[in-house]
Amino acid sequence: MGALKLHERKELQVAELTVADTRITLPIFYGTEGEKALDISKLRSETGFVTLDPAYMNTASCTSEITYLDGENGILRYRGYPIEQVAEKACFLEVSYLLLHGELPTAVQFEAFRSELRDHATISPFCQNMIRSFPTHAHPMGALAAITAALSAENAAYLAQDLPQSQRQEVTAQLMQQLKSVAAYFYRHMNGLTFVESNPRLDYCEDFLTMLFGACPTAEAVRALNVLLILHADHEQNCSTSTVRLVGSSKANPYATISAGISALWGPLHGGANQAVIEMLEAIRKEGGGVKKFIEKAKSKKDAFVLMGFGHRVYKNFDPRAVIIKKACDDVLEKLHVHDPLLDIAKALEAEALQDSYFIERKLYPNVDFYSGIIYKALGIPVTMFTVLFALGRLPGWLAQWQEMLTASGMKIGRPRQIYVGSGKRDWK
Ligand code: SDX
Repeated sequence: MGALKLHERKELQVAELTVADTRITLPIFYGTEGEKALDISKLRSETGFVTLDPAYMNTASCTSEITYLDGENGILRYRGYPIEQVAEKACFLEVSYLLLHGELPTAVQFEAFRSELRDHATISPFCQNMIRSFPTHAHPMGALAAITAALSAENAAYLAQDLPQSQRQEVTAQLMQQLKSVAAYFYRHMNGLTFVESNPRLDYCEDFLTMLFGACPTAEAVRALNVLLILHADHEQNCSTSTVRLVGSSKANPYATISAGISALWGPLHGGANQAVIEMLEAIRKEGGGVKKFIEKAKSKKDAFVLMGFGHRVYKNFDPRAVIIKKACDDVLEKLHVHDPLLDIAKALEAEALQDSYFIERKLYPNVDFYSGIIYKALGIPVTMFTVLFALGRLPGWLAQWQEMLTASGMKIGRPRQIYVGSGKRDWK
């Protein structure tokens, strides 16, 4: 069996790997905050070995300057800014600019960014007809993914293989603006209502809520939605962002790339959890009898029930976004004069789980999806639209990661290896 010998020196430069009769040194790579990585790019060519790491639990797919997570300590930063400060001080479009450009915008840059989005405010008849062609019972995430990919049909200019930076910026603004309108239009279509056009003079969230409900939203609702979209804006290499990077690495056009990210996000283990949490809380409320039974169901290996909105691949401490959203719940519901019994059930579930050894041993805490639906619901957004809101929030993060991947030095198409364990060679009888 091989042995990996690490030098004792503080600044480790290399790791020595001895495997079978081969000894190689692997460069060690450090991140800004001291994260350590073994650079294994020469591993196969020098030893014939690959690493096997299902679900990439121990594998960094890239380096990135966009978002930093520290799962052990519950830290999240966008371009170095702590999420707590960003959520308190910024609006969603400012955060989008920060993720996309690396710095907060000056007033002039912010206005220019808003005007870039304004340039794409019109939803074409083709797109409107596509929205109307869906059955009203269709899940909005399916519609959003399909319509996003279909936008390629009328944007030939952005289908080129190697878009110059100016066009990547244009298509970024187009997708940010158009997907907001597509989401609002689809909501109106689901409810048999006429479309409400975007009013680009409004703040992004104010415009979206106006397009949804056809009425001017309260300042509290606009603020609440800004905070929610900010908290969802990026989260390093999660499932959907990794999907965007992988699909984008084939030089697929931005519409196909973002559509793939939307599809990955739809899964209930990922962004679809925000819808699943509310459905779970509703089921607990309907069944009555308190939360203890559901905590036991979540712990039982014989029961398929999973406590949705709990647990995380990276956070082994509180998800800082869940902490912010939980605090906001009480504040927002009070300001919106909403009392939601599901919030009390959620808090009871959290309290019960956090004192239960099953959850403590596995470091399972509420994640971003556990409380977010309570606020979406208080804003009047239907549960089937919750993951669409997650997608609108995550869109600037996906686009920033897509651009970072395309402009990385030595950019290559992503193509993992495998270990074949199937049948040996056999002849066709
Ligand atoms: C998001 O990656 C990101 O950054 C994602 C995200 C983002 O912003 O992009 O943060 C958004 O997707 C948040 C996660 C939303 N999903 C859910 O809330 C679904 C419920 N959570 C679980 O399915 C689970 O916790 C995951 C999928 C989130 C994480 O799964 P992992 O990392 O693969 O962990 P695991 O399934 O191997 O769990 C380890 C143990 C297991 O028990 P044992 O086999 O060790 O006995 O913990 C248990 C699991 O059974 N466990 C749970 C549980 N989550 C994990 N048990 C009960 N309820 C849960 N929610």
